[in-house]
Amino acid sequence: MNLTLKIWRQNGPTDKGRMETYPVSGISEHMSFLEMMDVLNDQLVRDGKDPIAFDHDCREGICGMCSMFINGEAHGPGRGVTTCQLHMRSFKDGDTIYIEPWRAKAFPVIKDLVVDRSAFDRVIQAGGYVSVNTSGNTIDANAIPIPKPDADEAFNAATCIGCGACVATCKNASAMLFVSAKVSQLALLPQGQPERDIRVKRMVEQMDKEGFGNCTNTGACEVECPKGISLSNIARMNRDFLSASLKGE
Ligand code: SF4
Ligand code: FES
Repeated sequence: MNLTLKIWRQNGPTDKGRMETYPVSGISEHMSFLEMMDVLNDQLVRDGKDPIAFDHDCREGICGMCSMFINGEAHGPGRGVTTCQLHMRSFKDGDTIYIEPWRAKAFPVIKDLVVDRSAFDRVIQAGGYVSVNTSGNTIDANAIPIPKPDADEAFNAATCIGCGACVATCKNASAMLFVSAKVSQLALLPQGQPERDIRVKRMVEQMDKEGFGNCTNTGACEVECPKGISLSNIARMNRDFLSASLKGE
């Protein structure tokens, strides 16, 4: 396939940035989107030009690093996939593809397609953990009975990979889907109960401090989430937040 790529280039956080055009040729439909980007970067390096900076790590849909907007959609066309799982057969020979970084105040661009998502780390640090008894009398987690539906729901919430597509897709740049998944995966399990109230209060407060917007129930986040995280997690987080507030946490 021969393609025309329109890619966001930005030298650093203070650079204004601009779209630049790059032709690529000889792309196989079996390549992943990131492999196609590798072909372009090889070409740029051979020509003595600055390669395009983009995040990636696992290249198998686990780490959440490969964040980019492709033709106006987080992780491109297709549902339930990250950019590294997107294949070039989703495009046609002669296509023009627009590639941009996540756009959100809380995710400033570092360079080209790489954004700073440390705001997510600070939300987790605010409460996304459980206290562990390390006295030597620790109970094996498997010894605590958990109803299967609760375990399944907690597992579903825990599949969030922190990619940030929900934020990038939301017109308000809200992080509610991400935060609610992280709150829910612990709120649904017995191990998460001791800090349930304080956790939701602290994580929501940190989310607001980071400059993420509010949820207005549009649901775009759920559609674009590569892991299918459900909006019902947001409802659970809102209930927990209200309950914790009424208890004066
Ligand atoms: S909720 Fe979905 S879109 Fe948002 S960070 Fe988690 S996996 Fe990514
Ligand atoms: S590179 Fe890890 S999810 Fe895409």
